[in-house]
Amino acid sequence: MIDPHGRVMMVSGANRGIGAALARRFHADGWAVSLGARNLDQLRESVQEWVDENVSCHHYDAFEPATGTEWVESTVDSRGRVDGLTNNAGIGHMEDLSDLSEELLDEMWAVNVKGPLRLIQETLPQLAVSGEGRIVNVVSLSGKRVKGTFAPGYAMSKHAMLALHHAVRHASFEHGIRVTAICPGYVETDMTSSFGVDPEIMIKAADLAETVATIVRLPNTATVAEILMTCEPEVLG
Ligand SMILES: NC(=O)c1ccc[n+]([C@@H]2O[C@H](COP(=O)([O-])OP(=O)(O)OC[C@H]3O[C@@H](n4cnc5c(N)ncnc54)[C@H](OP(=O)(O)O)[C@@H]3O)[C@@H](O)[C@H]2O)c1
Repeated sequence: MIDPHGRVMMVSGANRGIGAALARRFHADGWAVSLGARNLDQLRESVQEWVDENVSCHHYDAFEPATGTEWVESTVDSRGRVDGLTNNAGIGHMEDLSDLSEELLDEMWAVNVKGPLRLIQETLPQLAVSGEGRIVNVVSLSGKRVKGTFAPGYAMSKHAMLALHHAVRHASFEHGIRVTAICPGYVETDMTSSFGVDPEIMIKAADLAETVATIVRLPNTATVAEILMTCEPEVLG
């Protein structure tokens, strides 16, 4: 297994939900974590229980491309390397087909697809340096299938993100970069709080983080391209 000590993992949307759980878990494993969020105060508050010299907080807003560039540059300036990138930041507009506006679609495209693409492009040269770079794309089961009439625009954006994921997987393999998509069903976070589904039955963000933290430590010879994780008895794949 790869030893994370001395390696740097970037996590977007690290201030709450799945991103916060991933950031905390990576850090516990020994990664130095470079965290990006829209609201720096909220991000700093979310890490205050465990912050140390291996944590840095940065402004990242997918609607403002320059913030991504600055985040990558300041990570390289301060840590001297980037070994991992976790594209977690995402939004879900759950409108049905008749209410799905182009504006809502554009927002999801910007945050769920274009933001990750830019961060990947800007970190790839750094990720290639060690020959053991890692990318995690937090997609969704909505990137694998369309669940009846549920959230078609979100599913469109996550299908696009999964296409990006596989494109990057192929393009970066020869540089030793291994790319994993985590595709969960319901996870108990703010995003699912209005779904009317019992939070008790939902995936816990800490369990998802535990899984991802193990996968990114696997050697280059054992790559996991997609993790499908669900709390329901639906057929996957
Ligand atoms: N919860 C689920 O059931 C579930 C299932 C499958 C996949 N996912 C995916 O998991 C990821 C995290 O979701 P979550 O459940 O943790 O949701 P969440 O609690 O709503 O958190 C979303 C995160 O994305 C950030 N974000 C939103 N818009 C952004 C922007 N323009 N620029 C930068 N960051 C932005 C949010 O920042 P702010 O705090 O500033 O809004 C927040 O940190 C998303 O990609 C989501 O699609 C979630």
